[in-house]
Amino acid sequence: MRLVLLGPPGAGKGTQAKVLSEKLKLKHISTGDILRQSIKQNTPLGVRAKRYVESGELVPDDLVTEIVIDSVGSNDTKDGFILDGFPRNVQQAESLDSFLRDKYSLDYLVIYLDANINTLIQRLSGRRICRNCQAVFHLVNMPPKKEGFCDFCQGVLYQRPDDTEETIKNRLQVYNQQTAPVVDYYAKSKRLVRIEADKEAGVVLKEMLDVLNRHSYAL
Ligand code: AP5
Repeated sequence: MRLVLLGPPGAGKGTQAKVLSEKLKLKHISTGDILRQSIKQNTPLGVRAKRYVESGELVPDDLVTEIVIDSVGSNDTKDGFILDGFPRNVQQAESLDSFLRDKYSLDYLVIYLDANINTLIQRLSGRRICRNCQAVFHLVNMPPKKEGFCDFCQGVLYQRPDDTEETIKNRLQVYNQQTAPVVDYYAKSKRLVRIEADKEAGVVLKEMLDVLNRHSYAL
């Protein structure tokens, strides 16, 4: 099964991709996670990407597309993958199609997680991440058992530098200008299914599984 999760910042792409990838045994490819890890390790990619990621701008296409194509084409994706955070503009969507057309086929599904702006701002501003294992929490929606610490490894929780009020605004603007057209791109090719992602995480997951079932993607 090949799946793309599309949606604005805070729609729940990472949260759902993590559960789905475990449940369906699919590789989860998150461009945001790859970039943050590269920044943390100060790799050449991280050095070039840092200022874009921290200000909420898109990292240049050539940097991101190459990483994704390498991951999608690697051996551990032969049973499929879940792409989270890519494509983010029409150019990236065309590059992905061009690669998949040659390597596999274009029979992949795009789930568009849509949520209203108040939900997105509330989710992003309350998100906290474990510095050690990267588990994601929310101060209100999914609070850790012990304030400030990870439930799984007791690591310290932190706030992403791009989850500040100013940068959230910019990310939402960048999404509307550059990523929203990708929704139309996929809608035209009839590969897109929209899910209302304002709901509780378990309900959204169930709706996604129903969609995959309906589309005969083996579960
Ligand atoms: P990336 O990490 O991809 O950020 P994003 O798309 O802005 O998405 P988020 O991770 O913020 O949100 P999400 O939808 O995954 O929400 P989550 O599940 O965490 O990208 C970061 C940056 O990297 C970009 O700004 C850009 O600079 C660069 N980049 C990445 N990809 C790129 C590309 N292809 N091209 C160029 N640049 C690229 O949930 C959010 C919070 O809500 C959490 O706290 C969670 O616990 C909570 N929550 C989730 N679901 C629910 C629910 N149903 N109910 C209640 N709470 C919920």
